[in-house]
Amino acid sequence: MENLTFFEIAKILISFAICAPSGHNSQPWKFQVVGNTIVISPDFSKRLPVVDSSDKELFISLGCALENLQIAATNYGYLSDYDYTDGKIVVTFTKSDSCVADTLFAHIKTRHTHRGSFTGAKIPQEQIETLKIIDNKSIVTFASGTTEANFLCREIADGNVIQMSDTAFKRELLSWMRFNKKHIEQTQNGLCYNVLGFPATPKFMGKKIVKTCLKPDSQNKTDDKVNASASHFCLLCTDGKSEKDYIALGKTLERLLLTVCGSGLAYNFSNQPCEIPALTEKLRSELNIAGHPSILLRLGYGGEPKSRAPRESVESVMVE
Ligand SMILES: Cc1cc2nc3c(=O)[nH]c(=O)nc-3n(C[C@H](O)[C@H](O)[C@H](O)COP(=O)(O)O)c2cc1C
Repeated sequence: MENLTFFEIAKILISFAICAPSGHNSQPWKFQVVGNTIVISPDFSKRLPVVDSSDKELFISLGCALENLQIAATNYGYLSDYDYTDGKIVVTFTKSDSCVADTLFAHIKTRHTHRGSFTGAKIPQEQIETLKIIDNKSIVTFASGTTEANFLCREIADGNVIQMSDTAFKRELLSWMRFNKKHIEQTQNGLCYNVLGFPATPKFMGKKIVKTCLKPDSQNKTDDKVNASASHFCLLCTDGKSEKDYIALGKTLERLLLTVCGSGLAYNFSNQPCEIPALTEKLRSELNIAGHPSILLRLGYGGEPKSRAPRESVESVMVE
C-alpha cells in the first residue's frame, strides 16, 4: 500500500463506495480523481423521474456511497472531509498516522438488502437503542404491533395502492428489472431476478409475468407478510429538504445499514410512504415528527442471500 499512488488508492476506495445501496439499484454516481480529492457527482442519466421526481433518493444514495468512501479511507490511513458545492461532493483526503480504521469497514462488501420475510424473532430493545445512537435525531424506531407500527403498515398499503395503480410508476420499475443472466451482464445494475428470488426468464416473458403481479392486491399481500415478520420499523428523517440534507441522511443511513448487517440483523426498505408527498405529510402529523420522513426501513432477522445485487465496474463509473 505504501508504494501506491493516490490515484491507485482512490480506485480502491471507489470500489468500496459503489457497494452502497441505491434506489432500484440504479447506481446514480460518477467519480473523478482530482489531485488528492475524489469528486462524486450525480449521474442524472440514472434518475428515477417517477418514483423519485425530486431526486431525494438519488442524493441519499450518493450519501451512502460517500460514507463507504470515507469509511474505506480510514482503513488505508486517510482522514477525510467533504464539501457539497455546485452539485458536486468534493472529498479531501489527508494521510495521517493518528487515523483509526473504522470497524464498519468489515461490513461494506457484505451489507445487503434482505429480500422476503424475516424470521419473526424480536430484536432486544437495548440493541435498537444502540442503533439509534448512530444519529438519535434522524432515526426513529417503532416496535411491531404498536399503534404507530400498525399505522405505518396501513401507509405502506396505501402507498402500494397509489403506486401499483400508476402506469408510469410500473413502466419505470419494469425498466429496471433484469430477467436473466445475460440481461444482468449487459447492465450490471437494476433489480435482478435471482436477488428477488424469481426464476430466470426471457425478457419479454418476464415483463409479461411481472406486469400481472404489479397490482395493489398482490403487492399488499406480499408486504403484509413481510410487515408481520418484521421486529421493528425505522424512519429516517431530515431537517430540511435540500440536497445537502439528503446527502447527510445517506451517510447516516449507510452507517445504520452497515451496523445492522454487522450485528447479525437484517433490514429492508418499505419506502412507499416516503415517496408519495401526501403520505409523507401524514406520517409527520400522525407520528408527530418534526423532521421530514425520507426513508422507511423494516428491521428483523434474516439469512444470507443466495445472490447479491450486481455493481457496475469501477472503470465505468470513473470520469477523467
Ligand atoms: C434511497 C433508497 C431507496 C430504496 N427504496 C427501496 C424500496 O422502496 N423498496 C425496496 O425493495 N428497496 C429499496 N431500496 C433498496 C435497493 O433496491 C437496493 O439497495 C439495491 O437493489 C441494491 O441492493 P443491495 O442493497 O442488496 O446492495 C432503496 C435503496 C435506497 C438507497
